[in-house]
Amino acid sequence: MKIKNICCIGAGYVGGPTMAVIAQKCPEINVTVVDINADRIAAWNDEDVENIPIYEPGLSEVVKEARGRNLFFSTNVDSAIDKADMIFISVNTPTKTYGIGKGMAADLKFIELCARQIARVSKNDKIVVEKSTLPVRTAEALKNILDNTGNGVNYQILSNPEFLAEGTAVDDLMNPDRVLIGGDIENPEGKEAVEALVDIYAHWIPRERLLTTNVWSSELSKLTANAFLAQRVSSINAMSELCEKSGADVKEVSKAIGMDSRIGPKFLQASVGFGGSCFQKDILNLVYISKSLGLNEVADYWEQVIIMNDYQKKRFAYKIVQTLFNTVSGKKIAVLGWAFKKDTNDTRESAAIYVADYLLNEQAEIVVYDPKVKTEQIYADLDYLNTRSSEENRAQVSVVDTPYEATKEAHAIAVLTEWDEFKELDWEKIYNEMLKPAFLFDGRRLLERATKEKMGFEFYAIGS
Ligand code: UDX
Ligand code: UDX
Ligand code: ADP
Repeated sequence: MKIKNICCIGAGYVGGPTMAVIAQKCPEINVTVVDINADRIAAWNDEDVENIPIYEPGLSEVVKEARGRNLFFSTNVDSAIDKADMIFISVNTPTKTYGIGKGMAADLKFIELCARQIARVSKNDKIVVEKSTLPVRTAEALKNILDNTGNGVNYQILSNPEFLAEGTAVDDLMNPDRVLIGGDIENPEGKEAVEALVDIYAHWIPRERLLTTNVWSSELSKLTANAFLAQRVSSINAMSELCEKSGADVKEVSKAIGMDSRIGPKFLQASVGFGGSCFQKDILNLVYISKSLGLNEVADYWEQVIIMNDYQKKRFAYKIVQTLFNTVSGKKIAVLGWAFKKDTNDTRESAAIYVADYLLNEQAEIVVYDPKVKTEQIYADLDYLNTRSSEENRAQVSVVDTPYEATKEAHAIAVLTEWDEFKELDWEKIYNEMLKPAFLFDGRRLLERATKEKMGFEFYAIGS
């Protein structure tokens, strides 16, 4: 079966880049990305391709090549579903904020709405692909809705979790370690659907990296991969405190253990804590699923990864307070970096939000500089925590356009995102314009200690 028309529901961080790359690599397939958020679609269609709503290195070039040729962005969800042979569901699945499973389970209401819409609109057979991270056995629920509310057409459900990381999305999509496709491979129709998706990826990815499994293995692999990655960060972060107290250096420890091929060198960078839309959400979901199955030890094991991460953020903020003579009340603290990692404008679950919140509780005055994050986003992130009123957030926090404005006359600087440009700043100038003693807290192990201390900074870095 040859796919001619693809529809992707959800034009976010996953759907947008993934579909742009599929469209670029498969010029004979029409790809329509739809979203209920009209502003977001308008931004994807902006004449100036630099204004697309997601910042990812290399993405605007891909969009430029494919948009209008075989890549389309639209708010007309029904029409795109109707035309498609294959529908990707790429809507958000945030952690539930209400009811049963509050704070733990994934909220599947957006997925369910999609399923009902697909069922209502479809007049011919469709392959439905789950792209969003979903709890295990969601495909079953999806199939149930499609089969029972639909117009008697046949659906094949595939699970095709996305492993791209933000900031490197285009590279990850162009050259993935593997692509995982879960389907009903025991059945001829299921197998055919899996093959149809394999054929799409085979346009640019070697076949041996296209892995096919049953649906449940695929769904669970996504949660497992994120849980393992997050666990590595929490493990090294746990060691970072031990290093600080014992005179070891976490960078040396990371290097030493990473050279063991059984451990490997990646994802051992100690930090102020992991963020992003996936790690915490997926682990909480794993914990919730384990608990619901009565697997309390499994649940507790993974929950510890989150506990460690929360502690790391809090520990960093308290280190600042403690070092500034136990009070930051009324003191100006420059926050360099708000995104959850470099090369993205995404701030979901960013450590910076929580560190700022702790410091605001201590009545600090926060001045933020981030090269890509918009001012309204920073306020929205703080407001979302509901710790204080939005007026208070606006009174205590300001957002500026240059790092030098942020650091001028500051008591302390906290580096919270590892943006490359922070390495190249004129640190002499920054030092000269700060209040003394000039405290510099490096939450990312980005800056070189020796040169900063030589300039006169009181320097603290995670893990040494
Ligand atoms: C370990 C370390 O590997 C080694 O570097 C250190 O110097 C001493 O401790 P050892 O205990 O000899 O070596 O064996 P290892 O191969 O690490 O296995 C330890 C245990 O883990 C065994 O019981 C093994 O069966 C088990 N294991 C290992 C698993 O259950 N699953 C695995 O994937 C790997
Ligand atoms: C992650 C997974 O990597 C990706 O495969 C999945 O599809 C989505 O979730 P992402 O959240 O975009 O991707 O970024 P990632 O690079 O994994 O970083 C997550 C967080 O961990 C960031 O805050 C990052 O700064 C932090 N991190 C990562 C560390 O603190 N240390 C490390 O060594 C690696
Ligand atoms: P992710 O990181 O998973 O891509 P995002 O929040 O960036 O998450 O993107 C998900 C997108 O899905 C949002 O733009 C949202 O408006 C869209 N969306 C959610 N539900 C629906 C729906 N029923 N129909 C169309 N779009 C939807």
